[in-house]
Amino acid sequence: MSGAILEVDAISVSFDGFKAINKLSFNIDSGELRAIIGPNGAGKTTFMDIITGKTRPDSGDVLWGDKNISLIKKSESDIANMGVCRKFQKPTVFEDQSVNDNLTMALKNNRGPLSVLFYRPNQADQEKVDNIATDIGLSDQLDRRAGDLSHGQKQWLEIGMLLAQDPQLLLVDEPAAGMTLDERNQTVALLQRAAKTRAVVVVEHDMEFIRNLDCKVTVLHEGSVLAEGTLDHVTKNQTVIDVYLGR
Ligand SMILES: Nc1ncnc2c1ncn2[C@@H]1O[C@H](COP(=O)(O)OP(=O)(O)O)[C@@H](O)[C@H]1O
Ligand SMILES: [Mg+2]
Repeated sequence: MSGAILEVDAISVSFDGFKAINKLSFNIDSGELRAIIGPNGAGKTTFMDIITGKTRPDSGDVLWGDKNISLIKKSESDIANMGVCRKFQKPTVFEDQSVNDNLTMALKNNRGPLSVLFYRPNQADQEKVDNIATDIGLSDQLDRRAGDLSHGQKQWLEIGMLLAQDPQLLLVDEPAAGMTLDERNQTVALLQRAAKTRAVVVVEHDMEFIRNLDCKVTVLHEGSVLAEGTLDHVTKNQTVIDVYLGR
């Protein structure tokens, strides 16, 4: 059964009088993959900032899960612990640690502060790490220092570290930037796999990447939803062409 796992209801936020988000409403189902596109400054990153508790909206609500729990007064760490994980544009892996250790630490972080003190990796954890490494295409890189990975591999490692926390909603901001064509294609497949067991929202500019994701698309413009539907549907919208595609 699917149903909205996240309901964003008419949120607005202003920065120094400038409405970065303007009565934005948005729903995503559990297990749905969704792409968000829109011109620079449309509010895509701010939208993710509000969902993840980094920015508080001036009005509106963000409702999470079966119980429709409001997220707008929760802290960033509470929201993360409730199953909403976010990948920023710049990878933030531990460069001096191995791929294996990065993934193991991400599993460990999932277990709360006490478990960090007493934690010893066991066989089941290593199996989880191995499975994630295979999923993110890094199974032959486990002993490598994360800092020595390619840019694309670092992005995958960070996605893997988020998957280790088993989020129900994964938010990914511009993953394709700086990737080779082959890396972009592998990232599409990775995000599609991730969305089989959770909701995934991907902000991206690369239209080929969006087409390959093959999912519903939401177009943001001036802090609101301008159009929503299949990529073919939204790219036929004259306003979308005028404000975004035609540039
Ligand atoms: N913390 C902030 N303080 C002031 N202005 C901000 C802040 N965050 C975002 N903005 C402004 O809000 C608008 C939307 O930004 P952003 O969400 O980063 O857009 P996008 O990710 O779609 O390019 C931009 O005009 C940006 O300058
Ligand atoms: Mg942005």
